[in-house]
Order: sequence, then C-alpha cells, then structure tokens
Amino acid sequence: MSAADRLLPRPLHVEDRSGEFVLDATTSIAADEAAAEQAALLRAALSASTGWGFDGRGGREIALSVDPSLAAEGYRLSVAAEGVRIAGGSASGVGNGVQAFLQLLPPQVYRRATVPWVRWVAPACEVADEPAFRWRGVMLDVARHFLPKHDVLRFVDLMAMHRLNVLHLHLTDDQGWRIQINRYPRLTEVGAWRRESQVGYGADAPGDGRPHGGYYTQDDLREIVAYASARGITIVPEIESPGHVQAAIAAYPELGVTGEPLEVGTRWGIIPNVLNAEDSTVAFFRYVLDEVLEVFPSAFIGVGGDECVKDQWRADARTQERMRELGVGSEDELQSWFVRQLDEHLTARGRRLFGWDEILEGGLAPGATVASWRGSTGAVAAARAGHDVVLCPDETVYLNYRQSEHPEEPIPLVVVITVRDVYAFDPVPAGLTESERAHVLGGQANLWTEYIDSPRTLDYFAFPRLCALAEALWTAGDRDYDAFASRLDAHLARLDALGVEYRRADGPLPWQTRPGIPGRIDTRAARAATVAALTANIAPTP
Ligand code: ACM
Repeated sequence: MSAADRLLPRPLHVEDRSGEFVLDATTSIAADEAAAEQAALLRAALSASTGWGFDGRGGREIALSVDPSLAAEGYRLSVAAEGVRIAGGSASGVGNGVQAFLQLLPPQVYRRATVPWVRWVAPACEVADEPAFRWRGVMLDVARHFLPKHDVLRFVDLMAMHRLNVLHLHLTDDQGWRIQINRYPRLTEVGAWRRESQVGYGADAPGDGRPHGGYYTQDDLREIVAYASARGITIVPEIESPGHVQAAIAAYPELGVTGEPLEVGTRWGIIPNVLNAEDSTVAFFRYVLDEVLEVFPSAFIGVGGDECVKDQWRADARTQERMRELGVGSEDELQSWFVRQLDEHLTARGRRLFGWDEILEGGLAPGATVASWRGSTGAVAAARAGHDVVLCPDETVYLNYRQSEHPEEPIPLVVVITVRDVYAFDPVPAGLTESERAHVLGGQANLWTEYIDSPRTLDYFAFPRLCALAEALWTAGDRDYDAFASRLDAHLARLDALGVEYRRADGPLPWQTRPGIPGRIDTRAARAATVAALTANIAPTP
C-alpha cells in the first residue's frame, strides 16, 4: 500500500519513493530542543507497541526538528531506507508529522503493549503538508452527561491522531456545572449533579430515577490543558450565559429572575430559567471567568449566548426597570448588553469572547467571535461586520444527530448526517468577499450529549464521522469521497487497535441500539425552514 493510501487526513502533497524504512531494536529517535516533547510522545507510542527503547546509537534515526520556515502547523515528512526526518513549523507541526508517520506504520502501532510478530516498516515517501483551516474543532458537551477526565484525555489523543486542534468544552448548562470555582463552591456542591435524567425525547419521556454527576477540579482541567497542548490542541472552555444556567441558579438562586428555588435540570430542551441582569450577577460571572482564565490559556473563551428565552425578562417588573436604567430598548438588547459586559472583561484581559450566533441578536459585542450553528446566516452577518467566525451548522456537523434512516439508530435525532455528508462540509459560506472569507477561522463538529450518556456511546456518534471532519478541515483542494472512503477502510483498523467503538457502515451493533427509546426526527426541508425562521432576525441585509 502506498503512503498516499494510508494518510488520513489526506496531505497536500505526497510522493511515493522506492524502498522502505524498517524499524528495529537499534533505531533511535533524535530531536532538537523545540521538538523534544514530540520526540518523547513518539518514543512512548513506538516503545509500547514494538517493545524497543529508541534511545540507542549507531542505528538508523528518526530525526525531529522545528523549521520555522514551514507553516505553523505544517510539516515535512521524509521516509527513506536510511532514516526518517520530520520537520514541523512549530512543535504542533512536528506533532502532525509524527501522527502522519504513525499512519505509515502497521496499525498495530496503536496498541499499548508489544505486538511481537509485526514487521515494523513504513513505505519510503516525501510528504509536504499544512492545514487549510486553523480552527479544526470539536465541541464536547460534558454538562448534559459528564465525561470522566480519563475519557477526555483519550478523546484528546483521538483528536491529535486526526490533526484536529480545538477542543471546545461545554462545561456548564441547565443540567450540570462541571468546573470547580473556588469562589463559589456551591456551583459544584449543588450544581454538579442532578437527581435523575430524562430518557428519550419528548414531554412524556420518563426520568431514569438515577442521580448523575461529576465535575473537573481546576487541577484536572490544568492537566487536560497541558496534555492537549503537548498534542497541539487548544482547549476552549465555555461557561454558558445568560440562558442554559439552571444548574448555576440551583446553586445560587439570587442569580435567577424569579428568586424561586430550582433544582439542577433533569429535563432536556430549552428552559425558561435565565439570569437576571443585576450588576451583582454580571460580577458573579466575571469572577467565574477570572478563575477560568487562570486555568485555560486559550485566546478564545466561550460565554454561550444560545437559546436564551426572554419570557422571564418580559414578565418581570424589576428586569423591565433594569432595562430602563440601562437604557436598553428590548430584551434582545438586554442580552447584548450582558454579553458586552463579559466581552469588555475578557478583552481587557487579552482574551477574545466566543459565543453562539444568537449573540448577534440585539447587536454583536465588539470583540466577539461567532460560532454559527443555525446554518451560516450568523457567520455571514458576523464576517461582514468584521468579526471572526467558526462554522458548525447543525445540519452538517451536529454529530449527535442520527447517522442513517436505519430503524435501529439509537435515540434518532433531527436529520441524517452520514460520513459522506460530513466529508462534504465546507466551512466557508457562499457569497463572502475575499476579505470577509479571511474571517472564517474554520469549523467544528458539535457533540451534544443529552442522549450520549457514556464514553462508548460517544465513540458511536463521533466515529468515523470525525475522520471525515478531520479531512474536510485539514485538506485544501478537491474532495474525492470514494478515495477517502477507501483510506477510511484502512484507517478503521487503527481505530480497532485503539478500541474505538465506531459505528459500522451497516448500522449499529445490537448493544449500540436503544430499543424503544424515542428520538425526534425531522426532514431536511423542515429543519431548514426552522433554521431560516430562527435566524431571520440576524440575517445580513442584502
Ligand atoms: C446549540 O446547539 N444550542 C448551540
């Protein structure tokens, strides 16, 4: 098999050469100072599966180096009988080259213990590669169902393997608050667990009667950040506001509009309980963000902003008085005012606010970057206004949506999104000028977890669709789905070696089904009409 047939995502340039590089007990790994961490990771991977140390002298060498003349995340990989050279534009670029090199080796290289009978050989080749987009992301909702730290680290490894580089962690929502905040301990004492969880879609869906919870300490999150950073991945944290906050209000009722005690949410959906607009509430969220900034070095900090139902604000005399005090003329403007308070705070600290496209309603905060999830309307409007955007349209990259019309798809949601659909994802909306297009940082897939209640189920929904996302965001130029599908076939052997429980092309395995648990199915036309109606108020004027 040629090198080109093994690499996923497909590199920009690859040429097969004659010969092969054979690893043996005398092979060594050498690296310059800037690539030392990547060398350690490569050594760990190769040592585990081959049983050799890679620290000898006299044998053939795998040499790693940073070459700043290359694109920051780009790499050059040269495999010859005499040795292997991997140069990257930065440590992340070297890491991407290392991942490509591992794919040239037999898939057993992904096993964690020695596989003695394998001939460890890579085909000779020259690869020159760099990504099309700088934001190649995945959002993980760890609020609806908590993902234990161990599984987050495993997910980071899987992202790195696919050259994905942004993990957006949705840390708070109505049904759970998952980050320790020292100043406000009740956020996790009360907010990190709920009494039970709704099973299946719909107002009549039963609860399971089983408590669910978990949270990350700040030390856990620092570990995740450092682990991800060593693998070229930035963690973008998200603290939801001013909607999707019921867990916070359950912990601190003074944050809410009604003052009534609430429990942490046990039902899915869009919930009317939102934050009040008092200065004390803004200050609370600024203090929370201050602790978030200490843990997460990311330039981008998520503040949510989606699906904030404004009924409580409309009905509440104090909120209406507050709007007059602030001189804001509508509830949309009140949300915009709230987001601006956080934007100023983050901007003053050298960070950038990242929010869902609803933050366009009532006026976009000056420093905001927009995640466009309801189609590309928000992205177009924001890019035209000079803001950076990340595309994550639900009908293409919401990986919690169903994967086929198969009657056994577990808790099927909304529209069918196949591997082929994700592969066709192009984050650049039609109709942007050259300068507006420069605001498209890239794209991300979103994994909402109302119905993804375990790491095994996460595997089923994420893979292999994330493999397609990786190539859609990494590889510039024409797409060839059939060629991708054939490389994906070979790639699945790697996921098998890693123990990833991906969805099989012919449907779920018996234990991947959820018999009798209803989802909510839409047609593409109905979903498109809903999204068009929802975004009419943020559509750019033609
Ligand atoms: C979202 O799906 N509510 C961003």
